[in-house]
Amino acid sequence: MIKNCRNVKIIGTGSYIPKKVLTNDDLEKIVDTSNEWIIARTGISERHLAEDNETTSDLSSKAALKALKDANIEPKEIDLIIVATNSPDMVFPATACLVQEKIKAVNAATFDLQAGCTGFVYALIVAWQFISAGFYNNALIIGAETLSKFVDWTDRNTCVLFGDGAGAVILKAKEEKGILSGYLGGDGSKADMIMLPAGLSKNPASHETIEKRMHYVKMKGNEVFKNAVKSMKRSTIKALEKCNLSVKDVDCFIPHQANIRIILVVLKVLGIKKDKVFINLDKYGNTSAASVAIALDEAVKEGKIKNNNIVVLTSFGAGLTYGSIVFRWNK
Ligand code: UT7
Repeated sequence: MIKNCRNVKIIGTGSYIPKKVLTNDDLEKIVDTSNEWIIARTGISERHLAEDNETTSDLSSKAALKALKDANIEPKEIDLIIVATNSPDMVFPATACLVQEKIKAVNAATFDLQAGCTGFVYALIVAWQFISAGFYNNALIIGAETLSKFVDWTDRNTCVLFGDGAGAVILKAKEEKGILSGYLGGDGSKADMIMLPAGLSKNPASHETIEKRMHYVKMKGNEVFKNAVKSMKRSTIKALEKCNLSVKDVDCFIPHQANIRIILVVLKVLGIKKDKVFINLDKYGNTSAASVAIALDEAVKEGKIKNNNIVVLTSFGAGLTYGSIVFRWNK
Protein backbone atom coordinates (compact mmCIF):
# COMPACT_ATOMS: atom_id res chain seq x y z
CA MET A 1 0.00 0.00 0.00
CA ILE A 2 1.19 3.49 -0.79
CA LYS A 3 0.79 5.86 2.17
CA ASN A 4 0.97 9.37 0.84
CA CYS A 5 0.19 12.48 2.84
CA ARG A 6 -1.28 14.76 0.19
CA ASN A 7 -3.12 14.09 -3.05
CA VAL A 8 -1.40 15.20 -6.24
CA LYS A 9 -2.77 15.74 -9.71
CA ILE A 10 -1.81 16.96 -13.16
CA ILE A 11 -3.29 20.43 -13.67
CA GLY A 12 -1.81 21.28 -17.08
CA THR A 13 -0.05 19.73 -20.07
CA GLY A 14 1.93 21.10 -23.02
CA SER A 15 4.21 19.93 -25.80
CA TYR A 16 6.48 21.31 -28.47
CA ILE A 17 7.58 19.60 -31.65
CA PRO A 18 10.34 21.20 -33.76
CA LYS A 19 9.25 22.30 -37.22
CA LYS A 20 11.73 20.44 -39.44
CA VAL A 21 10.25 17.17 -40.77
CA LEU A 22 12.26 14.16 -41.95
CA THR A 23 10.14 11.66 -43.88
CA ASN A 24 10.91 8.04 -44.67
CA ASP A 25 11.44 9.12 -48.29
CA ASP A 26 14.09 11.58 -47.09
CA LEU A 27 15.79 8.74 -45.19
CA GLU A 28 15.93 6.61 -48.34
CA LYS A 29 18.37 9.20 -49.69
CA ILE A 30 20.60 9.00 -46.59
CA VAL A 31 20.84 5.25 -45.78
CA ASP A 32 19.99 1.92 -47.40
CA THR A 33 16.36 1.73 -46.28
CA SER A 34 12.84 2.08 -47.68
CA ASN A 35 9.58 3.70 -46.68
CA GLU A 36 7.97 0.24 -46.84
CA TRP A 37 10.52 -1.33 -44.44
CA ILE A 38 10.26 1.49 -41.92
CA ILE A 39 6.46 1.52 -41.90
CA ALA A 40 6.14 -2.27 -41.76
CA ARG A 41 8.81 -2.79 -39.06
CA THR A 42 8.20 0.30 -36.91
CA GLY A 43 4.97 2.14 -37.87
CA ILE A 44 6.89 5.41 -38.26
CA SER A 45 6.15 7.67 -41.27
CA GLU A 46 8.05 10.78 -40.29
CA ARG A 47 9.86 12.42 -37.41
CA HIS A 48 10.71 16.02 -36.48
CA LEU A 49 14.26 17.23 -35.94
CA ALA A 50 15.62 20.17 -33.96
CA GLU A 51 17.55 22.81 -35.89
CA ASP A 52 21.34 22.91 -35.41
CA ASN A 53 20.99 25.85 -33.03
CA GLU A 54 17.95 24.43 -31.20
CA THR A 55 18.69 22.65 -27.91
CA THR A 56 16.85 20.40 -25.49
CA SER A 57 16.34 23.33 -23.10
CA ASP A 58 14.76 25.31 -25.97
CA LEU A 59 12.23 22.57 -26.73
CA SER A 60 11.67 22.05 -22.99
CA SER A 61 10.98 25.73 -22.35
CA LYS A 62 8.42 25.94 -25.15
CA ALA A 63 6.57 22.86 -23.88
CA ALA A 64 6.80 24.19 -20.30
CA LEU A 65 5.27 27.57 -21.17
CA LYS A 66 2.32 25.83 -22.83
CA ALA A 67 1.80 23.60 -19.77
CA LEU A 68 1.97 26.63 -17.45
CA LYS A 69 -0.62 28.42 -19.56
CA ASP A 70 -2.84 25.35 -19.61
CA ALA A 71 -2.57 25.12 -15.80
CA ASN A 72 -3.16 28.85 -15.43
CA ILE A 73 -0.14 29.22 -13.17
CA GLU A 74 2.80 31.66 -13.20
CA PRO A 75 6.41 30.47 -13.63
CA LYS A 76 7.35 31.96 -10.25
CA GLU A 77 4.84 29.64 -8.54
CA ILE A 78 6.80 26.58 -9.63
CA ASP A 79 9.01 25.22 -6.86
CA LEU A 80 10.49 22.18 -8.62
CA ILE A 81 11.61 21.57 -12.22
CA ILE A 82 12.74 18.12 -13.34
CA VAL A 83 13.86 17.59 -16.92
CA ALA A 84 13.93 13.94 -17.97
CA THR A 85 16.33 13.68 -20.88
CA ASN A 86 19.08 11.60 -22.43
CA SER A 87 20.24 14.45 -24.64
CA PRO A 88 20.88 17.37 -22.25
CA ASP A 89 22.28 20.66 -23.58
CA MET A 90 25.51 19.89 -21.69
CA VAL A 91 26.70 17.34 -19.13
CA PHE A 92 26.45 20.18 -16.64
CA PRO A 93 24.79 22.43 -15.72
CA ALA A 94 21.53 20.49 -15.70
CA THR A 95 19.13 21.32 -18.53
CA ALA A 96 16.52 22.07 -15.83
CA CYS A 97 18.67 25.06 -14.72
CA LEU A 98 18.70 26.40 -18.27
CA VAL A 99 14.93 25.95 -18.52
CA GLN A 100 14.44 27.75 -15.20
CA GLU A 101 16.28 30.77 -16.58
CA LYS A 102 14.46 30.67 -19.95
CA ILE A 103 10.98 30.60 -18.41
CA LYS A 104 11.93 32.70 -15.35
CA ALA A 105 10.79 30.13 -12.81
CA VAL A 106 12.99 31.88 -10.28
CA ASN A 107 11.75 30.01 -7.20
CA ALA A 108 12.28 26.49 -8.50
CA ALA A 109 14.74 23.80 -7.46
CA THR A 110 16.18 22.27 -10.62
CA PHE A 111 17.65 18.96 -11.67
CA ASP A 112 17.76 16.52 -14.56
CA LEU A 113 16.78 12.89 -14.40
CA GLN A 114 18.29 10.33 -16.73
CA ALA A 115 16.47 7.00 -16.95
CA GLY A 116 16.49 6.25 -20.67
CA CYS A 117 13.12 6.53 -22.38
CA THR A 118 11.45 5.85 -18.99
CA GLY A 119 12.76 9.19 -17.68
CA PHE A 120 9.43 11.04 -17.81
CA VAL A 121 7.62 8.32 -15.85
CA TYR A 122 10.47 8.25 -13.30
CA ALA A 123 10.36 12.06 -13.01
CA LEU A 124 6.58 12.13 -12.50
CA ILE A 125 6.86 9.59 -9.69
CA VAL A 126 9.75 11.47 -8.06
CA ALA A 127 7.83 14.77 -8.18
CA TRP A 128 4.67 13.08 -6.91
CA GLN A 129 6.60 11.96 -3.81
CA PHE A 130 7.99 15.47 -3.20
CA ILE A 131 4.54 17.06 -3.39
CA SER A 132 2.79 14.27 -1.55
CA ALA A 133 5.25 14.60 1.32
CA GLY A 134 4.61 18.34 1.53
CA PHE A 135 8.14 19.32 0.46
CA TYR A 136 6.93 21.19 -2.66
CA ASN A 137 3.55 22.39 -3.94
CA ASN A 138 3.87 22.91 -7.71
CA ALA A 139 6.21 20.95 -9.97
CA LEU A 140 7.02 21.28 -13.65
CA ILE A 141 8.00 17.93 -15.13
CA ILE A 142 9.43 17.82 -18.64
CA GLY A 143 10.44 15.00 -20.96
CA ALA A 144 12.58 16.37 -23.79
CA GLU A 145 15.06 15.13 -26.37
CA THR A 146 17.21 16.24 -29.27
CA LEU A 147 18.49 12.72 -29.91
CA SER A 148 18.85 13.50 -33.61
CA LYS A 149 22.16 15.09 -32.59
CA PHE A 150 23.38 11.77 -31.11
CA VAL A 151 22.09 9.41 -33.76
CA ASP A 152 24.52 7.92 -36.26
CA TRP A 153 23.05 9.01 -39.60
CA THR A 154 25.04 6.23 -41.31
CA ASP A 155 23.44 3.47 -39.16
CA ARG A 156 20.09 2.39 -40.60
CA ASN A 157 19.42 0.24 -37.51
CA THR A 158 18.93 3.33 -35.36
CA CYS A 159 18.63 6.52 -37.42
CA VAL A 160 15.19 5.69 -38.80
CA LEU A 161 13.73 5.33 -35.31
CA PHE A 162 14.32 8.52 -33.35
CA GLY A 163 12.82 12.01 -33.41
CA ASP A 164 13.03 15.19 -31.32
CA GLY A 165 10.39 16.89 -29.16
CA ALA A 166 9.29 17.84 -25.66
CA GLY A 167 6.28 17.35 -23.42
CA ALA A 168 5.55 18.88 -20.03
CA VAL A 169 3.06 18.66 -17.17
CA ILE A 170 2.36 20.70 -14.05
CA LEU A 171 1.74 18.71 -10.87
CA LYS A 172 0.00 20.28 -7.87
CA ALA A 173 -1.19 19.26 -4.40
CA LYS A 174 -5.00 19.05 -4.49
CA GLU A 175 -7.85 17.82 -2.33
CA GLU A 176 -9.02 15.15 -4.77
CA LYS A 177 -6.83 12.25 -5.84
CA GLY A 178 -5.15 12.41 -9.25
CA ILE A 179 -2.10 10.16 -9.21
CA LEU A 180 -3.09 6.77 -7.81
CA SER A 181 -0.06 4.57 -8.16
CA GLY A 182 3.26 3.91 -9.85
CA TYR A 183 5.86 1.23 -10.36
CA LEU A 184 9.50 1.63 -11.40
CA GLY A 185 12.08 -0.98 -12.31
CA GLY A 186 15.57 -1.39 -13.66
CA ASP A 187 17.89 -4.16 -14.89
CA GLY A 188 21.51 -3.08 -15.12
CA SER A 189 22.55 -6.52 -16.37
CA LYS A 190 21.10 -5.40 -19.72
CA ALA A 191 22.94 -2.07 -19.75
CA ASP A 192 24.70 -2.92 -23.02
CA MET A 193 21.46 -3.13 -25.01
CA ILE A 194 21.15 0.63 -25.55
CA MET A 195 24.05 2.96 -24.91
CA LEU A 196 25.96 6.02 -25.98
CA PRO A 197 29.42 4.76 -25.05
CA ALA A 198 31.81 7.71 -25.26
CA GLY A 199 32.32 11.26 -24.09
CA LEU A 200 32.26 10.65 -20.33
CA SER A 201 34.36 8.85 -17.67
CA LYS A 202 34.47 5.38 -19.23
CA ASN A 203 35.53 6.54 -22.66
CA PRO A 204 36.53 10.22 -22.58
CA ALA A 205 36.45 11.89 -25.99
CA SER A 206 39.54 11.06 -28.05
CA HIS A 207 40.47 10.67 -31.70
CA GLU A 208 39.84 6.94 -31.23
CA THR A 209 36.31 7.38 -29.84
CA ILE A 210 35.48 9.64 -32.75
CA GLU A 211 36.98 7.28 -35.36
CA LYS A 212 35.02 4.36 -33.86
CA ARG A 213 31.80 6.44 -33.90
CA MET A 214 31.38 5.88 -30.16
CA HIS A 215 29.61 9.20 -29.59
CA TYR A 216 26.44 7.88 -31.16
CA VAL A 217 23.52 5.74 -29.93
CA LYS A 218 24.20 1.98 -30.15
CA MET A 219 21.34 -0.47 -29.81
CA LYS A 220 20.61 -4.19 -29.95
CA GLY A 221 17.13 -3.63 -31.34
CA ASN A 222 15.86 -7.21 -31.28
CA GLU A 223 16.83 -7.80 -27.66
CA VAL A 224 15.35 -4.47 -26.59
CA PHE A 225 12.11 -5.43 -28.34
CA LYS A 226 11.67 -8.62 -26.29
CA ASN A 227 12.46 -6.90 -23.01
CA ALA A 228 10.19 -3.96 -23.83
CA VAL A 229 7.13 -6.18 -24.01
CA LYS A 230 7.95 -8.02 -20.76
CA SER A 231 8.79 -4.90 -18.79
CA MET A 232 5.82 -2.77 -19.91
CA LYS A 233 3.48 -5.66 -19.10
CA ARG A 234 5.07 -6.17 -15.69
CA SER A 235 5.09 -2.53 -14.61
CA THR A 236 1.54 -1.88 -15.86
CA ILE A 237 0.15 -4.83 -13.90
CA LYS A 238 2.18 -3.97 -10.78
CA ALA A 239 1.13 -0.30 -10.84
CA LEU A 240 -2.55 -1.18 -11.33
CA GLU A 241 -2.42 -3.80 -8.55
CA LYS A 242 -0.99 -1.23 -6.15
CA CYS A 243 -4.14 0.88 -6.45
CA ASN A 244 -6.54 -2.07 -6.60
CA LEU A 245 -7.36 -1.62 -10.28
CA SER A 246 -7.04 -4.00 -13.21
CA VAL A 247 -6.51 -3.55 -16.95
CA LYS A 248 -10.29 -3.58 -17.38
CA ASP A 249 -10.46 -0.27 -15.51
CA VAL A 250 -8.06 1.51 -17.90
CA ASP A 251 -9.75 4.12 -20.14
CA CYS A 252 -6.62 5.42 -21.87
CA PHE A 253 -3.36 3.50 -22.21
CA ILE A 254 -0.33 5.53 -23.31
CA PRO A 255 2.69 3.31 -23.98
CA HIS A 256 6.17 4.48 -24.96
CA GLN A 257 6.00 5.30 -28.67
CA ALA A 258 8.96 3.23 -29.88
CA ASN A 259 7.52 0.75 -32.35
CA ILE A 260 3.93 -0.07 -33.36
CA ARG A 261 4.76 -3.79 -33.24
CA ILE A 262 5.87 -3.50 -29.60
CA ILE A 263 2.69 -1.58 -28.74
CA LEU A 264 0.43 -4.15 -30.43
CA VAL A 265 2.09 -7.06 -28.62
CA VAL A 266 1.82 -5.23 -25.28
CA LEU A 267 -1.91 -4.64 -25.89
CA LYS A 268 -2.33 -8.32 -26.66
CA VAL A 269 -0.45 -9.65 -23.64
CA LEU A 270 -2.25 -7.23 -21.32
CA GLY A 271 -5.68 -7.78 -22.92
CA ILE A 272 -6.24 -4.07 -23.58
CA LYS A 273 -8.52 -3.20 -26.49
CA LYS A 274 -7.11 -1.17 -29.39
CA ASP A 275 -9.61 1.65 -28.88
CA LYS A 276 -8.09 2.38 -25.45
CA VAL A 277 -4.56 3.03 -26.69
CA PHE A 278 -3.14 6.36 -27.82
CA ILE A 279 -0.62 6.22 -30.65
CA ASN A 280 1.22 9.10 -32.35
CA LEU A 281 4.55 7.48 -33.24
CA ASP A 282 3.73 7.57 -36.96
CA LYS A 283 4.25 11.38 -36.83
CA TYR A 284 7.15 11.68 -34.40
CA GLY A 285 9.07 8.39 -34.21
CA ASN A 286 10.63 7.48 -30.89
CA THR A 287 11.18 10.71 -28.94
CA SER A 288 12.60 8.75 -25.99
CA ALA A 289 11.96 10.52 -22.65
CA ALA A 290 9.59 12.95 -24.39
CA SER A 291 7.43 10.23 -25.93
CA VAL A 292 4.70 9.59 -23.34
CA ALA A 293 4.76 13.27 -22.30
CA ILE A 294 3.93 14.43 -25.84
CA ALA A 295 1.38 11.64 -26.25
CA LEU A 296 -0.36 12.59 -22.99
CA ASP A 297 -0.67 16.23 -24.08
CA GLU A 298 -2.04 15.24 -27.49
CA ALA A 299 -4.46 12.70 -26.02
CA VAL A 300 -5.86 15.38 -23.69
CA LYS A 301 -6.06 18.06 -26.39
CA GLU A 302 -7.72 15.65 -28.86
CA GLY A 303 -10.37 14.75 -26.26
CA LYS A 304 -9.18 11.14 -26.01
CA ILE A 305 -8.93 11.55 -22.24
CA LYS A 306 -12.08 12.65 -20.45
CA ASN A 307 -12.78 13.65 -16.87
CA ASN A 308 -12.68 10.74 -14.45
CA ASN A 309 -10.83 8.51 -16.92
CA ILE A 310 -8.19 6.14 -15.58
CA VAL A 311 -4.96 6.74 -17.52
CA VAL A 312 -1.81 4.60 -17.58
CA LEU A 313 1.53 5.82 -18.90
CA THR A 314 4.09 3.05 -19.37
CA SER A 315 7.60 3.10 -20.73
CA PHE A 316 10.93 1.25 -21.03
CA GLY A 317 14.37 2.20 -22.23
CA ALA A 318 18.12 2.32 -21.75
CA GLY A 319 19.30 0.90 -18.47
CA LEU A 320 17.27 -1.15 -18.98
CA THR A 321 14.65 0.85 -17.11
CA TYR A 322 10.90 0.52 -17.07
CA GLY A 323 7.95 2.00 -15.24
CA SER A 324 4.26 2.85 -15.19
CA ILE A 325 2.12 5.47 -13.54
CA VAL A 326 -1.67 5.35 -13.02
CA PHE A 327 -3.82 8.43 -12.51
CA ARG A 328 -7.41 9.55 -12.60
CA TRP A 329 -7.84 12.48 -14.99
CA ASN A 330 -9.93 15.15 -13.30
CA LYS A 331 -8.59 18.46 -14.51
O1 UT7 B 1 13.13 3.51 -26.72
C1 UT7 B 1 13.76 2.27 -26.63
C2 UT7 B 1 14.64 2.20 -27.79
N1 UT7 B 1 14.58 1.12 -28.65
C3 UT7 B 1 13.55 0.41 -29.15
O2 UT7 B 1 12.43 0.51 -28.78
C4 UT7 B 1 13.90 -0.54 -30.22
C5 UT7 B 1 13.18 -1.85 -30.12
N2 UT7 B 1 13.44 -2.65 -31.31
C6 UT7 B 1 12.81 -2.43 -32.47
O3 UT7 B 1 11.98 -1.55 -32.57
C7 UT7 B 1 13.16 -3.33 -33.63
O4 UT7 B 1 13.98 -4.38 -33.18
C8 UT7 B 1 13.86 -2.57 -34.80
C9 UT7 B 1 12.87 -1.65 -35.49
C10 UT7 B 1 15.04 -1.78 -34.27
C11 UT7 B 1 14.37 -3.57 -35.83
O5 UT7 B 1 13.29 -4.37 -36.30
P1 UT7 B 1 13.46 -5.94 -36.39
O6 UT7 B 1 12.23 -6.48 -36.93
O7 UT7 B 1 13.87 -6.41 -34.99
O8 UT7 B 1 14.59 -6.09 -37.45
P2 UT7 B 1 16.00 -6.80 -37.30
O9 UT7 B 1 16.90 -6.00 -36.43
O10 UT7 B 1 15.80 -8.24 -36.94
O11 UT7 B 1 16.51 -6.72 -38.78
C12 UT7 B 1 15.86 -7.42 -39.84
C13 UT7 B 1 16.55 -7.05 -41.13
C14 UT7 B 1 18.07 -7.16 -41.06
O12 UT7 B 1 18.53 -7.64 -42.30
P3 UT7 B 1 18.97 -9.16 -42.45
O13 UT7 B 1 20.07 -9.37 -41.45
O14 UT7 B 1 17.73 -9.96 -42.14
O15 UT7 B 1 19.41 -9.23 -43.86
C15 UT7 B 1 18.50 -5.72 -40.90
O16 UT7 B 1 19.79 -5.48 -41.40
O17 UT7 B 1 16.26 -5.69 -41.47
C16 UT7 B 1 17.46 -4.99 -41.72
N3 UT7 B 1 17.31 -3.60 -41.34
C17 UT7 B 1 16.83 -2.68 -42.19
N4 UT7 B 1 16.43 -2.75 -43.47
C18 UT7 B 1 15.99 -1.62 -44.05
C19 UT7 B 1 17.55 -3.02 -40.15
N5 UT7 B 1 17.26 -1.72 -40.20
C20 UT7 B 1 16.80 -1.48 -41.47
C21 UT7 B 1 16.35 -0.34 -42.13
N6 UT7 B 1 15.95 -0.45 -43.42
N7 UT7 B 1 16.27 0.86 -41.53
